[in-house]
Amino acid sequence: MLLLHGTGGNENDLIPLGRKLAPDAPLLSPRGKILESGMPRFFKRLAEGVFDIDDLRFRTNELADFVAAASKEYRFDPNSVIAVGFSNGANIAASMLLLRTEALCGAVLFRAMLPLVPEKLPNLSGKYIFLSAGRYDQIVTIGQVEKLHQLLTESGAKVTMNWAQSDHSLIQEEIRKASNFLQAQFS
Ligand code: MLT
Repeated sequence: MLLLHGTGGNENDLIPLGRKLAPDAPLLSPRGKILESGMPRFFKRLAEGVFDIDDLRFRTNELADFVAAASKEYRFDPNSVIAVGFSNGANIAASMLLLRTEALCGAVLFRAMLPLVPEKLPNLSGKYIFLSAGRYDQIVTIGQVEKLHQLLTESGAKVTMNWAQSDHSLIQEEIRKASNFLQAQFS
């Protein structure tokens, strides 16, 4: 599993979550390379929810290339990588699904929004995605989640949509559901 932290986090943040979601899965957990006022992120933004699309494209390709190189270094199958992202990390995971389809076989996206609209619809058939949004999220609106859900579905992905009774913070119930999803789809 490829763990992708949120803004201001680092590579250690999601390790406990990864262990909870899939205790036996090998974990690859990079730190986002952008620093915004000292806070690591995976790509630049111009304002809250307004992304630097050129940088997002560049960083998405860079991350996908890193995962491919890591698969050789650490000897894992590059065709069986599942991204688990939170917030900014979920957004770059969504961007990878849209721009570098081959890099992921599935994803668990917590508090993601539509990060960009690709020039052409990718073919996501055979990809399984768990999309978990917070009904009371002040950062990611319901409309932004619906746009992502729609685009992923139109692209052929099998999306399991979950609305948590929460804001931007994760709750135990959605972690349990994500874990069940991973077990059902990938083990
Ligand atoms: C964040 O703070 O991480 C935003 O909600 C999402 C993003 O900037 O990618």
